[in-house]
Amino acid sequence: MVTIKNKLAIEKMFTAGQYLAEIFVDLKSQIQAGKSTLQLDQWFEEQLVKKKMVSKCKGYGSYKHVSCISVNDEVVHGVPRSTKILKKGDLVKVDVCASYDGYCADMARCYFVDFCPSDSVASFVEVAKNALDKGIDEMCPGKKLGDISHAIQVEIEKNGYGVVRDFAGHGIGKQMHEDPEVLNYGKAGTGLGLIPGMVFALEPMLTMGSYKVYVDNDGWTARTMDRSLAAHIEDTVAITTTGPKILTRLEGLE
Ligand code: MF3
Ligand code: CO
Repeated sequence: MVTIKNKLAIEKMFTAGQYLAEIFVDLKSQIQAGKSTLQLDQWFEEQLVKKKMVSKCKGYGSYKHVSCISVNDEVVHGVPRSTKILKKGDLVKVDVCASYDGYCADMARCYFVDFCPSDSVASFVEVAKNALDKGIDEMCPGKKLGDISHAIQVEIEKNGYGVVRDFAGHGIGKQMHEDPEVLNYGKAGTGLGLIPGMVFALEPMLTMGSYKVYVDNDGWTARTMDRSLAAHIEDTVAITTTGPKILTRLEGLE
């Protein structure tokens, strides 16, 4: 069942989104060589507490952390660890879902440790951002769910990268995961009709090589089979009468 949010619910999700986005701005300076991903997770947890936000990741099944931190060939759901130390040139994806006053926001960003290792990696991450934006552009009343999926897929594949199939975006509201599933590939003009009040977390996941992934022995961390680099970026977006409203971006930033 796809729930339609009223104005108040969207305002509350916007508040959650803005608080979360503020933390992600501060996160940039925390990403340093020599730090462990567990240290980053602990920093993030402190920031959520300061903002009176509740993590939706911690306690999700067996998951024990507030963030997923996926490095290089890890695509999503990287489990923070004290033994996972960041190195210069690493591509780090941080994904956090948290609620404020009962309403969720879900967001992920890519960061480099100290520097971007090459022009090709820089354009790879650029394509991730563009794919997300192309998907968001489709979030207008009258469009279909498949229009979002198709736009994301086209942007990724036209640049020669792989679209990860095993995970998807999702509806979001009081729950982190609500209907519908928002695939990162699909046919334009098909599926659910989009109407104002729907809120989705769009999250393209792309690979520099094959799109095939597998889940590690830890039961969570998803990696590329061929060990190629992966990117992941996510925003929570509401459909309004006038088009998409991105809840997890601060005005004038990014
Ligand atoms: N925030 C993730 C998403 O984009 C899901 C987190 S999985 C968890 O859907 F294990 F961390 F909860
Ligand atoms: Co999500």
